[in-house]
Amino acid sequence: MPVLANIGLLATCAGPGGQGELHPVPRAAVAWEGETIGWAGPEADLPARWRAEERWDAGGRLVIPGLVDCHTHLCFGGWRADEFADRIRGVGYLEIARRGGGIASTVARTRELSEEALFARAAGFLEEMGKLGVTTVEAKSGYGLDRETELRLLRVHRRLHRETPMRVVSTYLGAHLVPPEHVGQREEYLRLVEELLPLVARERLADAADAYVDEGAFSVAEARRLLSRARALGLDLHLHADQHGDRGGAALAAELGARSADHLEFVSASGIAALAAAGTVAVSLPIAALYLATPPLPARSLVEAGVPVAVSTDFNPGTAPSYHLPLALTLACTVQRLTPAEALKGATQVAARALGLEAVCGSVEAGKSADLAVIDAATPDEWLYHLRPNACVLTVAGGRAAWRA
Ligand code: NIG
Ligand code: FE
Repeated sequence: MPVLANIGLLATCAGPGGQGELHPVPRAAVAWEGETIGWAGPEADLPARWRAEERWDAGGRLVIPGLVDCHTHLCFGGWRADEFADRIRGVGYLEIARRGGGIASTVARTRELSEEALFARAAGFLEEMGKLGVTTVEAKSGYGLDRETELRLLRVHRRLHRETPMRVVSTYLGAHLVPPEHVGQREEYLRLVEELLPLVARERLADAADAYVDEGAFSVAEARRLLSRARALGLDLHLHADQHGDRGGAALAAELGARSADHLEFVSASGIAALAAAGTVAVSLPIAALYLATPPLPARSLVEAGVPVAVSTDFNPGTAPSYHLPLALTLACTVQRLTPAEALKGATQVAARALGLEAVCGSVEAGKSADLAVIDAATPDEWLYHLRPNACVLTVAGGRAAWRA
């Protein structure tokens, strides 16, 4: 039953209040039993039963909940550095896809990898994310796009959850792209996804389903058809929406009761209103917007409309080749005009809500998972202002030290 003591500032990130309300506790301590937080509060009030326990010293630093990266494409083969210079020269994302690059080229590289090879690569990424203070990661399939490889990716997600210190949440993204072998036969591919969904749900290979609504991907009608089926099977829903243009993705996410609508760079005013009415979380992905040089998500309009905004990496080999969640948070501040407190809540309590895990993680409160990050800064402002390769000196995942600087 260790106690993390000598915390200069504990940003509990508890749920009540608005996006920027962190419910901070100065000079705090956190005590846990097994995997679960038993007590958190001012160190002077630490209950007697914990006073003789083993003490871990936070050195007067900032302590935050273990970060939640609620949107990643974690498992894939290869990289796509070969497209980087072309994109800089002005070749568009859709043009690259038309030339056979983009998602389809990652699909080809992913299909070549065994379950073991995919696991080893993703476990390596997770280890690096853990060093940055991340303890929960959502992982999407969608680079297999045939029956066998999609199931392989989903099995890898489940193994990563069991065999690494990270909480890994699995999402089936069969509707990422119509794969090359089905081009010209969309209906056949849609039926393949419809066939896989019941298997994925029955075998509990995924917690949620996602679809990419865009030119060159899937229409609103196609996504509605697939995600309605997924919802009927008991899966949670997410949606890649309005990334390259306003296609009504936000309204669809709201209509379906999705937990989150992600990207939203081109969301309309009516889309924002629909998300607010439905209580759907907007997921901001500033690293993808940075690499694509797309306009920033209208974070202030969303927050002011009452839409909770999560911040995530979108880690993938094409549009966001970085799993550095603190970088995404700093970008959310500088480019999207979230305050550091709002960005931090977006990668903790709000991100946990986007995954349906707000009762489990995302805040430092009794009863929640003992997921903590000790940050070498005095405040969230100082942390996200002074961007460093890594300011995290200790990560606790499920009550165990997963990383120590
Ligand atoms: O979230 N938008 C679609 N999917 C990914 C990009 C995937 C890729 O380029 O490989 C995204 O940005
Ligand atoms: Fe994505």
